[in-house]
Amino acid sequence: MRLGVCYYPEQWPETMWARDAQRMRELGIVQVRIGEFCWSRIEPQPGVFDWTWLDRAVDVLARAGLDIVMCTPTATPPSWLVRADPDMLAVGADGRRRGFGSRRHYDFSSPSYLQQALRITRAFAQRYGRHAAVRAWQIDNEYGCHDTVLSYSPQATRRFQAWLRQRYGSCTALNEAWGNVFWSHDYSSFDDIATPNATVTEPNPAHMLDFRRFASSEVQHFNRVMCSAVREHAPGRPLLHNFMQFFTGFDHHAVADDLDIASWDSYPLGGLEMFWFDEADKARWHDTGHPDFAAFHHDLYRGMSRLPFWVMEQQPGPVNWAHWNPAPAPGMVRLWSWEAFAHGAEVVSYFRWRQAPFGQEQMHAGLRTPDDVLDVGGSEAQQVAQELQRVPVQPTRAAATAVVFDYEGQWLLEAQPQGRDCTPLRVVFEAYHALRSLGLDIDIVPAHADLRGYALVVLPALPLVSSKLLAALLATPAQIVLYARAGAKQDPVTIASGQPPGLLRALIDLRVARVQSLRPSVRLPVHCGGQTFAAQRWREDVEAGLAVAVDAHFDDGMPALLRQGRVRYLAGWFDAALQREVMLRAARDAGLAPVPLPEGLRLRRRGDLLFVINYSAHAACVEVPQTRWLVGSAQLPAHGVAIARHQRAP
Ligand code: GAL
Repeated sequence: MRLGVCYYPEQWPETMWARDAQRMRELGIVQVRIGEFCWSRIEPQPGVFDWTWLDRAVDVLARAGLDIVMCTPTATPPSWLVRADPDMLAVGADGRRRGFGSRRHYDFSSPSYLQQALRITRAFAQRYGRHAAVRAWQIDNEYGCHDTVLSYSPQATRRFQAWLRQRYGSCTALNEAWGNVFWSHDYSSFDDIATPNATVTEPNPAHMLDFRRFASSEVQHFNRVMCSAVREHAPGRPLLHNFMQFFTGFDHHAVADDLDIASWDSYPLGGLEMFWFDEADKARWHDTGHPDFAAFHHDLYRGMSRLPFWVMEQQPGPVNWAHWNPAPAPGMVRLWSWEAFAHGAEVVSYFRWRQAPFGQEQMHAGLRTPDDVLDVGGSEAQQVAQELQRVPVQPTRAAATAVVFDYEGQWLLEAQPQGRDCTPLRVVFEAYHALRSLGLDIDIVPAHADLRGYALVVLPALPLVSSKLLAALLATPAQIVLYARAGAKQDPVTIASGQPPGLLRALIDLRVARVQSLRPSVRLPVHCGGQTFAAQRWREDVEAGLAVAVDAHFDDGMPALLRQGRVRYLAGWFDAALQREVMLRAARDAGLAPVPLPEGLRLRRRGDLLFVINYSAHAACVEVPQTRWLVGSAQLPAHGVAIARHQRAP
C-alpha cells in the first residue's frame, strides 16, 4: 500500500524539480505520475523532438528514489497536428467538429490519428520503456472524458457500417434483428446506415445500442493498439488506464482485458454534485461525498483489474469543474485514502502535487498551494503515509455478495429509459448502497462472471440476460435478487419473448404484464411486513405462478415483492428503506450476518483487517470484539477512520 502523486514538470521552472521531489519523499510519497499532457513540449513541431527536459525530469525524480508512472500523451494532441489533419477531430451529435483548445479532441475512429497516436506512444515507450525508475505505464488519460467516446464523423460512419456488415452479414439479417419493418426502416445497402444523431425524432433503440457497442469497440481497439506498442518496449512494466467515476461510455471490462491494472480517478465531491443524487443528499454529503460513492468504484474496478487496482487520481481539496466546488471536510482526504486501501487498492495517487496558478484548472487544489505551501490535503496525505507504516498489507478476498454489472444493459436502458429519471446506473448504485448500509463486503462483477462462490447475487438494471448468465445463476446456490427490468429485453432490442423477465422465468415463475414510469412527485405505497414503504419512478404489474410468494404488495393488491425459493423479484423502484429491507432478508437467508449501520458509518474487511469509516459529521462508536486497534479506536470522531486487526486465538 503506497502513496503517489501526479506531477507536471513541464509546468514548473526546472529549478523547482529537485526540491519538489525531495518534499514528495519527505511527505511519504513514493510514486509520481508524469507526462500525460506534454506532447506539445516533446514534439513542438512535426518530427522535431525535444526529450532533453523530460530526460532531466525523469533523472531528478529517479534520483530522489521515486518510482515513475510514465503516461502516453495522446489525450492532448498538439495544435500543429490538428492543423495538418483536421479530420482527426471528433464530430459531436450536433454534426459540428470539436475544436482545439481544451483536450480529448480526437476521434477514436480516425485512422490517421490512430497512426499519430501510435507514433508518439512508440516514441515514449522506446525512450523510457526500459528505464529502471519507470515502473508502470498509463495509456492515454481518461478515455471518454468530456463526452468523447461517440463521434459522428464521416470516418466513424464508415467504420460503423463496416462493423455492422461484419456483425450481420446482410441487410436482410440486420433489418430482421433491428425490426426495421417499423416506420419503413428497411435498408438495402449498409452504406445507407448513418450514425443515430441526425434523425427527426428518436432513432430505433437497436440502432442506438449497436452504435454504442461499435463506439465501445473503437475505444477498445485504440487502447489495444497502444498497449501492444508499449508492451513491446517496456517489458515487465504493468500497463494501466485511469477510468472515471459513474461512467458507462464504453465496456470497461473489455478495455481492462488489455491492461494489467484498472485504476480510477476519485473525485467524491464533484461526483456527488454532478450526478443524480437528490437535493437532500447533495446537501447532506456536500463536503464528504456520498458514503458509498468511492467504495462503489473501488469494488467495480477491483473486479476488472488483473493486479491490485489503483486510485490514480485522488481529490485533494476543492476541484474546479463541478457546479459547486466545496472544500472537503477536515479529515476527508485521509478518509478517502483509507477507504481505497480498505477495498484492496495498492496505490492512492493524489491529483496533483501543486495547484497551478494558470490554465483551465487554476482553481483546482493540489497537495500544495500555488505559492508552494503545504495545503490541507497535503497534511492529510502525510498523516496517511505515517499510518500506513502501522498497517500490514493484507490480501483482498472475494466477497460473499456480488452485484452483477453490465455495460450493454446500461446502454440499452440509457437509450430507452422510458422515464426521464429512470437512470440505470442509479439503480445499480442504490442496490449497492442498500447492501453496504448493512455492512456487507461486495464484489461488482461482469455478466460473464462465475457466480458459484457467492452467497448473495444481485442483478440491478440488467435487461439483457444471456443464456450464459442464466446458466451461472442456475449454477450458483446463492440467494438472488432481481430488480425490475431484469431480463426484460432480448438482443439487440426487443421485448423479451413471452414478456419479461424472459429467460429469467427459469428462476421465478412470473410474467410482467405491464410497466409504467412515474413522475418524480408520485409515490406509490408498498406494504411489506406490517410496514408501509414506497415505490417511485417505476412500477410493474406482475402475474405470479402458484409457487411464488408475495412478500409485499401495492395499494391495489398487486404484488410488489415476489419470491420463489432463493429468488426475489422487485416489481418497482423501491425507496431506500425498502431496498434495504429486501437486502436484509436476502442476506439473512444467505447465511450472512448483515448489520444495519447508522447513516454514514461503513465497514470493510481486507484479510483480517477491519476498516471502520465514519462519513458522518458526528462521532460514532462501534463494538468490535477480539480485535486490536492499529489506527484509531472504537470511538470514531467525525470523518474518522479506525483500523482493527482480528486477534488470532492463542
Ligand atoms: C481528471 C483528469 C485530470 C484533471 C482532473 C481534475 O478528470 O484526469 O487531468 O483534469 O480530472 O479534477
